[in-house]
Amino acid sequence: MNFYAQSAQKAGRRFINGPKYSCSSCTRRLYSSGAVKENDIVLLKHRSSSSAPIITNPLKPGGKVNLVLDSINHEDIIGKAKREVVVSRKRVLYRIHEPTLAEYTDNSPRLVTPIYSQDANLIVSLLDINPVPPGSQSAGEDKLEIFEAGTGHGALTLHLARAIHAANAPLPMLPEAALESESLDMGFKRVKLDTQEDTQSQEQKEVKLAYEEWRSKRRAVIHTLDTSEKHSAHAEMVVRNFRKGLYFPHIDFHVGKIEDYLSPRLIENGQQPFLDHAILDLPGTHDYLDIVGKALKPDGSLLVFCPSITQIIDCIKHVKERRLPFFLEQTVEVGGAVGVGGREWDVRRVKPRALLKAEGEESPESVPESGDDEGWQIVCRPKVGVRISGGGFVGHFRKIVEFPARNVK
Ligand SMILES: C[S@@+](CC[C@H](N)C(=O)[O-])C[C@H]1O[C@@H](n2cnc3c(N)ncnc32)[C@H](O)[C@@H]1O
Repeated sequence: MNFYAQSAQKAGRRFINGPKYSCSSCTRRLYSSGAVKENDIVLLKHRSSSSAPIITNPLKPGGKVNLVLDSINHEDIIGKAKREVVVSRKRVLYRIHEPTLAEYTDNSPRLVTPIYSQDANLIVSLLDINPVPPGSQSAGEDKLEIFEAGTGHGALTLHLARAIHAANAPLPMLPEAALESESLDMGFKRVKLDTQEDTQSQEQKEVKLAYEEWRSKRRAVIHTLDTSEKHSAHAEMVVRNFRKGLYFPHIDFHVGKIEDYLSPRLIENGQQPFLDHAILDLPGTHDYLDIVGKALKPDGSLLVFCPSITQIIDCIKHVKERRLPFFLEQTVEVGGAVGVGGREWDVRRVKPRALLKAEGEESPESVPESGDDEGWQIVCRPKVGVRISGGGFVGHFRKIVEFPARNVK
């Protein structure tokens, strides 16, 4: 008799079929008893080591989780209960979990470094988003619009989308017959829709219309933009794969330059600001403060995520030189080891990569120090290594409410 059965017997209850309930007298479930299904994504934790957990792809019959010199068949995971154990080809045990948002964004396969979950949570809390459910008395007319550039891995995007989730009405119930896999995007589910308007069935048209109507009535939206189509497409997949696209419908993905998105929107809006908040996580942040300053509503927050404190200083200088309507409310250092033990700092002069590229150079190391000061910046940051992963600085600017100039006698 195993441990679970023994404790169940001691407690005077019958133990049926695996450790699903540990408090069966009140049948309180300590975790979801739902079995893992095809297309689910799971997190696999090595049973006896603290090695990094593994996020699987959507599970499919015939699919495999490839490990170093080892593998696990998707079919061995499908049908198991969460927290059950699966055995790899080399007889290594892994426990099956449903990943939390943090585990998912920190561990899913990536093309670029994401903002890690602990930092993403801090950024979201700095924005102080208080979504009001639709239909409630305090729900106003205004749409909450948050702008993020660059999208990158989609990690911060997902955290932001979770924060606004409650502001939007539930998605319309769609006829089950119209829902099929392998077909056109409807965000939360993939719905089979003929791309040719004239060959779409009535039901397909209704499904599309219902979704589009719902989208047009969203009360909160995350606009996320990246110059790289590849990064944007990857991030979109990351978002879609989390809990079957739960947060996808709250996000609009854009590919292109910041100006090319914000300028036409400003024209559409009669040059009136329309963004409640903006977040920039990209190189050369200070170059975008002018246009973001125009699009941000008074008292809106602008958060800049920079690996080096000098990049925050560049933003401050730019705000001053260009007399932009921003006030730096706070600067927060983020990263896994902030506040723990002694911390080594990396302080050196570099030429930013963008500048090197433009000058046809290979890497910062390949550029000898010269007397020429143009384009050089000072890196001034905690050293990234075994003890510190990522990290950086968040500058929290707030848009100043501009008062009409007073006539001073
Ligand atoms: C560090 S990643 C962002 C990570 C993201 N915040 C996350 O949590 O996953 C930086 C991204 O900025 C994009 N990028 C670089 N320059 C840009 C620009 N001028 N406008 C928009 N995106 C840009 C890059 O393609 C890259 O995907």
